[in-house]
Amino acid sequence: MRTFFNVQDIGDLGKALAEAQEVKSNRFGYQHLGKNKTLLMIFFNNSLRTRLSTQKAAMNLGMNVIVLDVNAGAWKLETERGVIMDGDKSEHLLEAIPVMSSYCGIIAVRSFAGLQDRDFDYAETIVNQFVRYSGKPVVAMETATVHPLQAFADLITISEKCGELQIRRPKVVLTWAPHCRALPQAVPNSFAEWMNAADVDLVVTHPEGYELDPKFVGDAKVEYDQRKALEGADFVYAKNWSCPGVTNAADYGKILSKDMAWTIDTEHMSWTNNGYFMHCLPVRRGLIVTDDVIESDHSLVIPEAANREISAQVVLKRVLENI
Ligand code: CP
Repeated sequence: MRTFFNVQDIGDLGKALAEAQEVKSNRFGYQHLGKNKTLLMIFFNNSLRTRLSTQKAAMNLGMNVIVLDVNAGAWKLETERGVIMDGDKSEHLLEAIPVMSSYCGIIAVRSFAGLQDRDFDYAETIVNQFVRYSGKPVVAMETATVHPLQAFADLITISEKCGELQIRRPKVVLTWAPHCRALPQAVPNSFAEWMNAADVDLVVTHPEGYELDPKFVGDAKVEYDQRKALEGADFVYAKNWSCPGVTNAADYGKILSKDMAWTIDTEHMSWTNNGYFMHCLPVRRGLIVTDDVIESDHSLVIPEAANREISAQVVLKRVLENI
């Protein structure tokens, strides 16, 4: 594996899930792979889980890790070509990328959507420059449109619970929930993409106008009635996202609804098949989910976060095996 952005990059999902369990039971068994190799983790945006879990995964593999917070201590980076750099941006990304790549063997990047220009975001303009100009393997730690380390961890979590409960083909519902800020679509995009590739029955539910890009939602059933969608669900994956601009490009990145009837509470969970609540975290209680649901014994948010270490370790292991 040389880049990790989409579900296709991981190949056969059954093999990837089996490898996740192998890595989980033998976290320090592959230290020879990372000896004297360096992972550079570049953050254009904040993180708790991705930062800690990816660093831990790399350390499990025996790697050295450098973390750069671009907006806290580095020169402010210009990303556009053809501009006169007489503002507050002192360095251009096109010099910074080859310089940064000269210090490492693998680059991991977090760069969120700006939510101003759909074409710029959906072309993955920033991370594609890392792929093009670094000459190094590039791993997405959440880009403008995808968050594959999260989706892989979510799939590991669902697979583990299905194994425990002997559920063969679970009903998985991705539900929009309200939020006070405009959030990117990377998490729901990747979740839909990975669930479509997995052996699950995926239903996506959201208010009209929040349709996800068909590239990710594929043939999944879209149900605008949240209650109907949740009926019989084994897993409820709640997430807010701003307007993806699929049905109306002018609305891209906007908040179209703050309807609190979509907040996941105990009544919503009572419509499910004794279902499990999932969220990638961080989550705003009272908006996305109520305290009692997230604190219940049917909340999987902590196992999901713990599995971020495993998804990152499988991905880094595979990259290291191909360097
Ligand atoms: N879920 C997730 O990516 O969390 P962080 O933003 O804290 O890394």
